[in-house]
Amino acid sequence: MPTLALLSVCLAPFTWVLLKVIFSVVLDTNYFGADPGIELVAFFGQIATLFLFLTISFSSLGKISKTWGIPRMRRILGLSVFFYATLHLLSYLIFLGGLEVGTYFHDLMTKKRIIFGSLAYFFLFLLAATSFDSAVRNLAKVWSLLHRLVYFIAGLVVLHVFLSSKANFAFAFFFFCAYLILIGLRLQKAWR
Ligand code: HEM
Repeated sequence: MPTLALLSVCLAPFTWVLLKVIFSVVLDTNYFGADPGIELVAFFGQIATLFLFLTISFSSLGKISKTWGIPRMRRILGLSVFFYATLHLLSYLIFLGGLEVGTYFHDLMTKKRIIFGSLAYFFLFLLAATSFDSAVRNLAKVWSLLHRLVYFIAGLVVLHVFLSSKANFAFAFFFFCAYLILIGLRLQKAWR
């Protein structure tokens, strides 16, 4: 049951956007602000970031993991991060890049925020691709080393968000503080 509830929570932002698109088309009204493309890029990016930090926070609940089925819930959250990061990337490519792959590569060469975001996305892809039971079994120790990259990914995302936030500085600052707390907890655990 907690798994089903979590799945619904994870799909809620996507359903919300889908409903806004349907109502915009059916009622011929714009339910997205002045620039729907930018709004979608920002929204999916924010949800991916939120779920990424929730996933890491779930790891800190390790002790009660068996009773609450935390590992399975962490996997659902982790895959949701990848899902929303992909929607974020697609919205960027479609609405800001005009579906020109060249624009993306130009941004990749010239903008630090796009380098950090792309690196984060690449590692998220690796984690998503190795999140299934067979990969966990086959990769054994390599798997746990690989999945510790999540802290590195979060660092890249914080940098990406800081450099990307023009008006939304509070959002970037909040996740910077959250990152410091989570890294602190992880280091404390490693020390013990
Ligand atoms: C290939 C990878 C990525 C690309 C090309 C990309 C691109 C962008 C762009 C174009 C913006 C808008 C800022 C601007 O005007 O330049 C942005 C903002 C943002 N991105 Fe990404 N991004 C990527 C990966 C990620 C990932 C992996 C995450 C999180 C898990 C993320 C989260 C965010 C957030 C939270 C914002 C700020 C939204 C706001 O509050 O305005 N991005 N990204």
